[in-house]
Amino acid sequence: MILITGGAGFIGTNFLLDWLAQSDEGVINLDVLTYAGNLENLVSLKDDKRHIFVQGDICDSILVTKLLTKYQPRAIINFAAESHVDRSIQNPEGFIQTNIVGTFRLLETTRAYWSTLENKIKQKFRFLHISTDEVYGSLASGEEAFDEDHRYMPNSPYSASKAASDHLIRAYHHTYGLPVLTTNCSNNYGPYHFPEKLIPLIIVNALAGKPLPVYGDGQQIRDWLYVKDHCAAIRQVLEAGTLGETYNIGGRNEKPNIDIVHTICALLDALYPRANGKRYHEQITFVTDRPGHDRRYAINSKKIECELGWKPTETFETGIQKTVQWYLDNQSWVRNVQSGIYRKWIDKNYEGRTL
Ligand code: NAD
Ligand code: DAU
Repeated sequence: MILITGGAGFIGTNFLLDWLAQSDEGVINLDVLTYAGNLENLVSLKDDKRHIFVQGDICDSILVTKLLTKYQPRAIINFAAESHVDRSIQNPEGFIQTNIVGTFRLLETTRAYWSTLENKIKQKFRFLHISTDEVYGSLASGEEAFDEDHRYMPNSPYSASKAASDHLIRAYHHTYGLPVLTTNCSNNYGPYHFPEKLIPLIIVNALAGKPLPVYGDGQQIRDWLYVKDHCAAIRQVLEAGTLGETYNIGGRNEKPNIDIVHTICALLDALYPRANGKRYHEQITFVTDRPGHDRRYAINSKKIECELGWKPTETFETGIQKTVQWYLDNQSWVRNVQSGIYRKWIDKNYEGRTL
C-alpha cells in the first residue's frame, strides 16, 4: 500500500482517482478535512476496498504512527497543506501549523517507522513531498524559468511555509538518510479545484452572473499545468526519481491572468451563452491587488523530462476546454461546495467507523 495525505483536496483527489484507475495497489488517505477537503470528490470510491479513508491530522503523531504500524505502506506522498495564498495573507497561523509543524511531525513519525523496517523494504521505501514553484519567488519578464538550483525567495506566508517544509525534507535526507523526493510544481488546474482559486472562481462567478475579480492590472503570469499531467509526473518521480533530489514540474503554459479570464469567458460564450445575450467578459472587474503579489512564475521542467521521460500531454487550450466542461457538467458539486453541504457527507458516511 501507499499512504497519501490530503487526498480529499484538489490534487490529492485527482491523484487518488488516477492511481486507482491504473493500479490495484491500495491507498490509505489521511485527511483532516479542512474547508478544502471534500469527500464528495471520492464518492465513486465508496465501495472500493482499495481506498481506506482516515480523517486525521498530519500533526497527530500518535495517529500517524498507528497507521504506519498497521498498514506498513511502502511509500508516503504528502499533499496535505493549507494552499491558498490569499488565506495565508489574512491568517497565516494555520499555514505554519500544517505546512511546517505538520511536515516536521510526519517526517519524525516516518523516520521512526522507516528505521524499524528490514533492509530490503527499507531500501525501497519512499517519502515524496509535494511542493510549489512559489518557493523560488517572483521572476521579472525575460528572466530564465526556475530550475531546481534556483535560490529560494518565498514572498508570502504560504510560500514561506512551503519553503520551510522543503528545507526540512532536505535535512532529513542529509542528516538521517531518509529516502525523500521533492516535487515543485506550477499552478495546477482541472476538475475538483476549489472555487477560491483563479480558474474555478472565474468559471463559477461567470455562471452565477457575478463580477470576475482580476487583481491589479491582470498582467501577472502563471505557468498553468493540467492536474492530470501533474499526477502522472508524481507517479513517475515516485517510481524512478533519484533519492534526495527535487524535480520541477511545469505546464509550458505561461499566461497573464487577464488572458486566462478572457479565454474562460470566450469558452463559456460558446458552450453556455448567457440568457440575456450579453458576453461573459462584461463581468470582468479589476480589483485592488493582492499584497506582495508575485509577478511571474515559470518552470524549467528539463530535469524531469530528460531523466524520467515525463512531458505534459495537455496544451492550455485542451486542458482549459476540459476544465470548463467539467464545471458545466458538475454544477451540483459547485453548489454543494458553496453551500457547505459537502461537509455533511462526512457525518453521513463516516460516523461510527473506526480505524
Ligand atoms: P487543497 O487545499 O485543495 O487540499 C489540501 C488538502 O489537505 C485538503 O483535503 C485538506 O483537508 C488537507 N489538509 C489540510 N491540512 C491538513 C492536515 N493538517 N492534516 C491532514 N490533512 C490536511 O490543496 P491542493 O491544491 O490539492 O494542493 C496539494 C499540495 O500541492 C499542497 O501541498 C500544495 O502546496 C501543493 N501545490 C498546489 C498547487 C496548486 O496549483 N493547487 C501548485 C503547487 C503545489
Ligand atoms: O504556483 C503554484 C501555486 O499556485 C500553489 O502553490 C498554490 O497552492 C496555488 O493556490 C496557486 O497559487 P496562486 O496564488 O498563483 O493561485 P491563485 O489561483 O490564487 O491565483 C492565480 C493568479 O490569479 C494570481 O496571480 C492571483 C490572481 N487572482 C486570483 C484570484 C483568486 C486574481 O486576479 N483574482 C482572484 O480572484
